[in-house]
Amino acid sequence: MMQAVIDLRSDTVTRPTAAMRAAIASAEVGDDMFGEDPTVRRLEEVVATRLGKAAALLVPSGTMANQLALRCHTQPGDDVLCADGAHIKWYEAGAAAALAGLQLVTIGRGGFFHVSDLYASYQPERTDQASPPSRLLCFENTHNRGGGSIWPMQQLYEVAAAARQLGMKLHLDGARLWNAAVALGVPDAEIAAPFDTVSVCLSKGLGAPVGSLLCGPIDTIHRARRYRRMYGGSMRQAGILAAAGIYALSHHYQRLAEDHHNARRIAELLSDVRDIQVIAPQTNILLFDLSLPMPDAAEVTSRLKTLGVLVAPFGPRRIRLVTHLDVDHHACEQAGQRIRQVLCDAAL
Ligand SMILES: Cc1ncc(COP(=O)(O)O)c(C=O)c1O
Repeated sequence: MMQAVIDLRSDTVTRPTAAMRAAIASAEVGDDMFGEDPTVRRLEEVVATRLGKAAALLVPSGTMANQLALRCHTQPGDDVLCADGAHIKWYEAGAAAALAGLQLVTIGRGGFFHVSDLYASYQPERTDQASPPSRLLCFENTHNRGGGSIWPMQQLYEVAAAARQLGMKLHLDGARLWNAAVALGVPDAEIAAPFDTVSVCLSKGLGAPVGSLLCGPIDTIHRARRYRRMYGGSMRQAGILAAAGIYALSHHYQRLAEDHHNARRIAELLSDVRDIQVIAPQTNILLFDLSLPMPDAAEVTSRLKTLGVLVAPFGPRRIRLVTHLDVDHHACEQAGQRIRQVLCDAAL
């Protein structure tokens, strides 16, 4: 009998449930470029309120939400400080340089930084004409390349306060802010509070098909609306997407805890396998490294594929897997067992 494929490559692979499709089908819509889509308006209000911000803007992707923030806060030639593994540096096709003329300066290690890292790289606006000013500091919470790791709240607040004192603007890439909030048991707004702007995604753990929002002050979001048009991200009857987002926030938010539990369970199943190092998951992303004599990540990924488990190579000797709405506890248990089997066989 064919084994069902268990797809753990990303939490973006989820498909809308029947109930979400019903919400999409019955969405009231209008032309959002004219500000006439009531469902988009409602989603923007709901998300802005959750994050404690004055306004929000629906955009097609997390990448666009981040890029609008960079554009709104800076001038071409400015420095933007961010973590070494930041999504804006690695996975946004060089947009910060190409679209906003920015230099990304990486600070800290493993996705996190301290006040001392900020001070070491910060450049004030000088009169010497030569140095680019450090205009914006970007955080990412949870941190994708760090394995869905969560910023410790005290550290986040300390670094944000130091940046504020230096006169910098603050942006949070909160594509998976929801996972951090659920894992910490705090309101979304508590994580969002120190930031001028926050981007969030509906199409990751929450399981909506499309959509991200940029949240922040009214004047910034007003400017972002114009840049959204410039970047080709203005939509028309986008209420069908917004309806999926509203549904996802009210039905799929609390269950993110199940994804976290499932990631921990897979980590547990792999914990005593020789020649791998599992990075203990804090949310829904699990990373493990393969040491010699284990085969490399591409080979392990392809062996797992033949057993019906899809994972993502994340560097030559690192594998990433992400738990989500479409893989329940039973499927994760099976995936964990199959991964364990492949690794134990490879170690023989
Ligand atoms: C931390 C982070 N930020 C932003 C994004 C971009 O989202 P999108 O793929 O919707 O552009 C992702 C996507 O995985 C992400 O992990």
